[in-house]
Amino acid sequence: MREVDRAEAGSEKEVEELRVRLLGKKGEITRLFDEFRTVSAEHKREFGQKLNNLKNKATEKINELKGRIGQSESSDRTTDLTMPGDMHELGTRHPISITREEIISIFRKLGYALAEGPEIEDDYHVFEALNFPPDHPARDMQDTFFITSGHNPVLLRTHTSSVQVRTMERNRPPIRVICPGRVFRNEAISARAHCIFHQVEGLYVDKGVSFADMKQSILLFVREMFGENTRIRMRPSYFPFTEPSTEVDISCNICGGKGCNICKGTGWLEIMGAGMVDPNVLSACGIDPEEYSGFAFGMGIERIAMLKWQVRDLRLYFENDVRFLREFETSI
Ligand code: DAH
Repeated sequence: MREVDRAEAGSEKEVEELRVRLLGKKGEITRLFDEFRTVSAEHKREFGQKLNNLKNKATEKINELKGRIGQSESSDRTTDLTMPGDMHELGTRHPISITREEIISIFRKLGYALAEGPEIEDDYHVFEALNFPPDHPARDMQDTFFITSGHNPVLLRTHTSSVQVRTMERNRPPIRVICPGRVFRNEAISARAHCIFHQVEGLYVDKGVSFADMKQSILLFVREMFGENTRIRMRPSYFPFTEPSTEVDISCNICGGKGCNICKGTGWLEIMGAGMVDPNVLSACGIDPEEYSGFAFGMGIERIAMLKWQVRDLRLYFENDVRFLREFETSI
């Protein structure tokens, strides 16, 4: 008993050693309990009581020592209040996210709602309903990542125009949506091309929507995005899902249209494809082309971000090098 009273320990390890020595499976007190069996009946009561007292005392002592050590160890850890804290590094938003949000917020002001569709699509929504002829080269294995083969194969969408179809299938005009998303093309990765990139699709369908409405909406957008002196130019083009179709250029925001190495001396930069929704597409989605008309446009988010910040190499967007990402800190 006296030995228990006097026991001391300087660390958690020593307390544990003491516990094992006294109360462990082969500990001194445990062994006394084994001997209890051999004690004669007349002494059993007295011996038993003493033994229990001893065990309680030892348990108390160990708990007390543990408490004391715990306290002094934790107080040690918190004494130096002047120690510098652990700083968490803050990240920055990715330029693609910043651009995506900016495009959405400009079109939201023009009354466009957000629409999304699946990245894993079928041939019908990516090509057929969009009036692609069966042998169109965009369906080719070289462009499209196919997941299944056969009739109406499953594939990774090559453009966000598929969301136009899904939106028109589910809604009746007036429809005004902006559809951002990831797209996939089977292309070799270089400074100017990647197999994964981002697009934003726009669609407006109602009674009496005209080419002039499209031109004005795009002009409003580019002025918000690239500055109020930006001009646009439309070149005739071809897309299966629009008629007429156009490619839209903006006046070069670097040289103001005089010609520089960014615009290759032309003064113009291509930013999107657009056009009046082909009557065949409206019909495929159950909308009467005699009653309704609409326009659509599609642009690459990487391209818009490249033009806005003069990013020279597309691969930078995907490498997540913090030195590159940091450059967009102030753009949030
Ligand atoms: N889907 C086209 C592409 O990926 C872009 C595009 C062009 C979308 C014209 C449109 C459009 O909605 O009208 O190249």
